[in-house]
Amino acid sequence: MASLKEEVLSRRTFAIISHPDAGKTTLTEKLLLFGGAIRDAGTVKGKKTGKFATSDWMEIEKQRGISVTSSVMQFHYQDCHVNILDTPGHEDFSEDTYRTLMAVDSAVMVVDAAKGIEAQTKKLFKVCKMRGIPIFTFINKLDRQAKPPLELLAELEEVLGIESYPMNWPIGMGKEFFGIYDRFNARIEQFRTENAEDRFLPLDEEGGLAVEHDIKKSSLYDQMLEEIMLLEEAGNEFSKERIAAGELTPVFFGSALTNFGVQTFLETYLQFAPPPQPRQSDNGEVDPTSEQFSGFIFKIQANMNPAHRDRIAFFRICSGKFERGMSVTLTRTGKTSKVSQSTQFLADDRSTVNEAVSGDIIGLYDTGNYQIGDTLVGGKPLFQYEKLPQFAPELFVKVSAKNVMKQKSFHKGIEQLVQEGAIQLYKTLHTESYILGAVGQLQFEVFEHRMKGEYNSEVIMEPMGSKIARWVENEEDVKENLSNSRSLLVKDRHGKLVFLFENEFALRWFQDKNERIKLYHPLDET
Ligand code: G4P
Repeated sequence: MASLKEEVLSRRTFAIISHPDAGKTTLTEKLLLFGGAIRDAGTVKGKKTGKFATSDWMEIEKQRGISVTSSVMQFHYQDCHVNILDTPGHEDFSEDTYRTLMAVDSAVMVVDAAKGIEAQTKKLFKVCKMRGIPIFTFINKLDRQAKPPLELLAELEEVLGIESYPMNWPIGMGKEFFGIYDRFNARIEQFRTENAEDRFLPLDEEGGLAVEHDIKKSSLYDQMLEEIMLLEEAGNEFSKERIAAGELTPVFFGSALTNFGVQTFLETYLQFAPPPQPRQSDNGEVDPTSEQFSGFIFKIQANMNPAHRDRIAFFRICSGKFERGMSVTLTRTGKTSKVSQSTQFLADDRSTVNEAVSGDIIGLYDTGNYQIGDTLVGGKPLFQYEKLPQFAPELFVKVSAKNVMKQKSFHKGIEQLVQEGAIQLYKTLHTESYILGAVGQLQFEVFEHRMKGEYNSEVIMEPMGSKIARWVENEEDVKENLSNSRSLLVKDRHGKLVFLFENEFALRWFQDKNERIKLYHPLDET
């Protein structure tokens, strides 16, 4: 039996971040195939084509053929226990997507080589950067015509502000794609080979190809050598420490669809990706290998069985070992209870978990006791992990009860769903009208669905469109007459003042006119 420490150090828990269509699903699927977690390619993809994955619990998910909330996939590779946390894209993008990044120890960023850094990648990257977690970059679709690799590296630096170290370098692209020059493993990996033994070609001491091959006569080879020289002379130095600090991103080129470069990526990734790291609590830093069980809830998924009001709380273990039936205390309330119903997540099945350790994600059945950000601890002392950050919503709706006679259930439903973290609530200053904020449209749909299903309350939602939310630092300097339709002043649920600006222009105009008022975005706080 491995010791707790050995078990914990074998964990690699990460999320894949990307813009829709960059190839996240395809890459995930290939990784799961390597890990033997799925047998057929297409299992993860099934979600999109109407073959519903077991993680698509909610009715609304089934209707739309998507996964409302991120799910978790676990597999073993070499000596590692790998946990991949999915971060949904498109309309199913929500606060959960951001919060999932609070539960991982590193992130893999997939970039479409023809498109470069796109909007959603930028948003998600910002959250990873704020946490200072290592970010590994996989530049995908080299089997197609792409942007020049040097231009892609420049984009990483300019758009995201992160330095990079290419672990390998493409030789040609698209129809002329020959393979990758693997700086890290000192070999060339061929894209098209007749037999598997020819896949890797060795390099000599000077870094050139050590064997005879036609590619040596090609201009692509010369160009690659020139670029490698440039990287050696003017590029960043490889630094394990800077990778661990999230300051330097190792870059890998490949093609997920053709399964090229994926295994090389996975093996190198596992070598440098961190195991669970210590986390801050109000009782000091908690070591992941310490015996006391603890962790926090980063997501709650409701309505898996419409006949019951049960929900599943996604729980990241941060220290110790989980055993089914153990007693845990919810720090927020001080209440202790036995955890007898828990679940582990697999790509094509959910199964009961009996044991799990720091780094793992487990699902806890919840009958309405948990909120997002809650800490659970086994034994004493009790402590609380750092609060999860509030993310600035971008979409807003005005909400009211359809039936004025049903105000009570309307208020109860809103209160509980807001507390749970499903949606954000704002109120206008005098009329106290309710405004809901979300980072993705689907959050509103889920809200409407759950209000009706769980609280028997039909709601009217009037879209207000997208707004830029900025909190006010010096509230005493704010006068109510600054509020108008282009810069609407509201209160968040903690009573803090927030301006909702119509667009970037309105925000800049306001800042020019009111220099004294200090505005901030919650993500800039840390
Ligand atoms: P996502 O999860 O990031 O949204 O992307 P996904 O993996 O679904 O990939 C988006 C599209 O890009 C898919 O094509 C997929 O086959 C393609 N793709 C992924 N990796 C590569 C690659 O390395 N090379 C090439 N050429 N294409 C790649 P689709 O036509 O939208 O879907 P499908 O018809 O293949 O299912």
